[in-house]
Amino acid sequence: MERRGRLKHETPDRIAAALGRLVEDFFHPPALGRARPPEELARDLILDVPAQGMDFAAIEQAVAAYLDAGFRAQHPRFMNSLSSRSHEIGLLGDVLGAVVNTTMATYESSPAGTLVERALIAKLGRCMGYARCDGLLTSGGSMSNLLAMLCARHRAAPDAKRRGLSDGPRLVLFTSDQAHYSIASAAQALGLGEDGVIAVATDALGRMQPERLEEAIAAVLARGEKPFLVVGTAGTTVLGAFDPLAELAAIAHRHGCWFHVDACFGGAAALCVEGKTMLAGIEHADSISWDQHKLMGVPLSCSALLTPHADLLGSAVVAGDGSYLFHNDGSGLDAGLKSLQCGRRIDAWKAWLLWLYLGDAGYEARTRRLFDLAREVGEAVQRDPRLELVFPVQSFCVNFRAVPPPGEDAAAFTLRLRERLMSSGIACLNYAMTKGTLHFRWAITNPDLTPGDVESLLADVVAEAAVR
Ligand SMILES: Cc1ncc(COP(=O)(O)O)c(C=O)c1O
Repeated sequence: MERRGRLKHETPDRIAAALGRLVEDFFHPPALGRARPPEELARDLILDVPAQGMDFAAIEQAVAAYLDAGFRAQHPRFMNSLSSRSHEIGLLGDVLGAVVNTTMATYESSPAGTLVERALIAKLGRCMGYARCDGLLTSGGSMSNLLAMLCARHRAAPDAKRRGLSDGPRLVLFTSDQAHYSIASAAQALGLGEDGVIAVATDALGRMQPERLEEAIAAVLARGEKPFLVVGTAGTTVLGAFDPLAELAAIAHRHGCWFHVDACFGGAAALCVEGKTMLAGIEHADSISWDQHKLMGVPLSCSALLTPHADLLGSAVVAGDGSYLFHNDGSGLDAGLKSLQCGRRIDAWKAWLLWLYLGDAGYEARTRRLFDLAREVGEAVQRDPRLELVFPVQSFCVNFRAVPPPGEDAAAFTLRLRERLMSSGIACLNYAMTKGTLHFRWAITNPDLTPGDVESLLADVVAEAAVR
């Protein structure tokens, strides 16, 4: 056989040193970063591949350019998303998954991943009050919601898996007007159409109103269509509202509907006593989605779909002939038989290692800290007459704005201020238009924020708002 030269590789010590620098950046991010226009950024990034490749020094420069290209979520002033500073044990678990690099499709490919994922799913299920729990980790909350809705569709129209949705009355689902857009996306992906989603009105705090749900179901029945699914939200994306889950479960089940709870954001409330009361009734849900990458400090991405209905995922999800891959017939150990993904990362380790490290007590303290921090940030906003708390703090979100100068349009002022905060690197924060008001949303997901961090951040927002 012809002798081939060794393909291009790097030495372990160089890679270890580069990883070491990344770990240092993780622990001590040198700066938040700033918003940069794509034309400017494109000048700093190498966006073409040279035919002969590049040497390692150039690769390291590319790494540095990526770090500086945008924001670092590990920085205390990153308040943009529902995930921010992750925990270093999660980082370790994430790197571990990359080192092992096997897929979660089969037990034989990822034996320790499979058993740990099963233990994690069972534990998450117990937190939600399920005595028995099936489920799996997915690529994110949107995928968990999609799988849950697929289970609901399968139960309502089992033939749809083979024949599509051509037969029978139209299937309609109900969620609140504050629900995450992934519910509508999943509905269209499942062939239900965006119009198959009824947005039920919420109260002033953004919680679904059970009476409005009853009315909406009655209207759909009167049209000869088939209500099949109610989706409650535990922790809405902007207001952090928790729907009255027990009431919604009772209504859904009375009408023969599947009850899914999107707890992608607020599921972590189950980890402490005061949060558990906000989730009362969730144990009656037919499925729950819960992101560990939002409030639990697990690096992106890690999300769980949970259901007490054993074997439903197994019959609802996978179609076609995967016999080339799945040889563990009947053992129930091949998680790929419940998943829309074939290749799937071992996300369970990063969540499980962190739970092992913190323990239940550590997670309880961490979650309580997040609740306390959100309340304290809300109080700090209320104390400053130059700031306005736009909605009461219900859980983990603080929705506020700087008071605009007299005569200025509040929404335009808020948008301009945000642009300046982002481009100068003072803060990376998001905004939303809710119930007719445009405001900043600060989701408190970083338990390591100090009172000093909060004070100096709000002072800088106020100072920037005063600049003319
Ligand atoms: C309530 C809710 N559900 C679902 C999602 C989607 O989660 P992911 O971003 O992990 O897909 C989000 C994201 O913000 C959310 O807030």
